Amino acid sequence: PALVGAWRRGRPWSRSLEPVALPEVDDAAAWRAGGVYAITGGTGELGLALAARLAPLGVRLALIGRTPLPPEDSWDTHLASAPDGDRTARVIRELRRLRTLGAEVITLTADITDPADTGRALSAVRERLGALHGVVHAAGVAGNGLVQTKTREQASAVLAPKVAGTLALAEALRAEPVELLVLYSSVAGAIGGLGESDYAAANAFLDAFAAAEDGRGRVAQRVVSVAWGPWRRDRWQTAAFADNPELLALMLRSRQTHGIGDDTGTAALARAIVAGPSHLYVLGRPLADLAAETAGPPASPATPVPSAARHPRPPLRTEYVAPRTEAERRVAEVWQDLLGIDAVGVHDPFFDLGGSSLVGLAVVARLSAASGVDLAAATLFERPTVAQLADLLDTDRPADAAPAPDVTDEAAARGERRRARGRRTPPRRRGRAT
Ligand SMILES: NC(=O)c1ccc[n+]([C@@H]2O[C@H](COP(=O)([O-])OP(=O)(O)OC[C@H]3O[C@@H](n4cnc5c(N)ncnc54)[C@H](OP(=O)(O)O)[C@@H]3O)[C@@H](O)[C@H]2O)c1
Repeated sequence: PALVGAWRRGRPWSRSLEPVALPEVDDAAAWRAGGVYAITGGTGELGLALAARLAPLGVRLALIGRTPLPPEDSWDTHLASAPDGDRTARVIRELRRLRTLGAEVITLTADITDPADTGRALSAVRERLGALHGVVHAAGVAGNGLVQTKTREQASAVLAPKVAGTLALAEALRAEPVELLVLYSSVAGAIGGLGESDYAAANAFLDAFAAAEDGRGRVAQRVVSVAWGPWRRDRWQTAAFADNPELLALMLRSRQTHGIGDDTGTAALARAIVAGPSHLYVLGRPLADLAAETAGPPASPATPVPSAARHPRPPLRTEYVAPRTEAERRVAEVWQDLLGIDAVGVHDPFFDLGGSSLVGLAVVARLSAASGVDLAAATLFERPTVAQLADLLDTDRPADAAPAPDVTDEAAARGERRRARGRRTPPRRRGRAT
């Protein structure tokens, strides 16, 4: 598919993707036996998977992350008292396993977005392990939140490890370039992702950086950005969907079926390093399938709650007001269905009722489908009550008819409606010829 378009000197350009067939290679063709490698985000899931692959080559590894580990002489005590699922305990066990597999491993605490910290970390690697041969930049944080509601700070936090982090690494490497710099990117850079505008941009930066630097020898002789599709290993979705077990199960099933496994992923990485272009995608399933899954809200982000299993309306700052119009009744029913509440008042704020942004997307998708009116994904953030949403859907109401009275502060509500009318393009009815 054409992903990026540009107009240059009177001609249209588009970037497209081509499949590449890369020969199988031995790991030793991509990585030096006994070589020194630093992995940023090295104690994260994919960092540990790569470390395990490299360990039998007798490599010396520095795993760099922000979270400090307890001193080694207290590891046994930590393991003895760690609760189930403790992250530190898991990392300690993995580090021990790496050593038994043949690697020399140290961990370093550094914030890779800080140039001074990064410089110090790479100097420490050279001091403790010897001449540095390569860096794998796998540090990253998850994007999360609709672009309409994202703050500059939130987006900056997601951009930082990939943009500022890569620039900090480049600055530290310029004085003493290495053989290899691998950037862990994501297919989100090409196809986006729900709530991942910042994450997509951050990864697109990595891809462009590799294209600009590969083969120039300024930071490394070989610079390659590998944009991964979803792996089976993942902590981000598990954390993001912790409060939505049905959706989490759906996501985990998809990852188990289509996700990249450790052996496949790390073998593909070696092939990419030896014979790939400066930027490539490694996917567990066709790009078009991934793009289709990413294009809209997941098919069933919330499961309707049967009437008998619903809860009473919780105490709220608003008085209960029953739906007064057909449109309000329809909207309230969808909320009741998806929030599992037996009676939703027309002025009850969605998020005070326990609604999450994912359930909000399901509400919007349901109302769009039922009414034929295209609603933007962020509609609920702008119109968080049944009355406000119904006002938008009630397209049969004459333009000069008074909308249903709204929220507790009527003057503020009128102002909001005026602003919204000025702002909003009229909702589009689907399926009508224009
Ligand atoms: N897993 C997938 O399916 C997948 C798919 C496509 C791309 N990727 C990419 O692969 C990379 C690794 O992902 P993962 O699944 O292994 O995630 P992960 O388990 O969360 O590991 C990422 C690691 O990055 C570290 N980190 C974040 N910010 C940092 C900073 N400023 N300085 C130093 N370390 C920092 C984190 O450690 P601390 O919390 O200790 O800082 C964390 O351990 C990411 O860049 C991600 O975008 C993953």
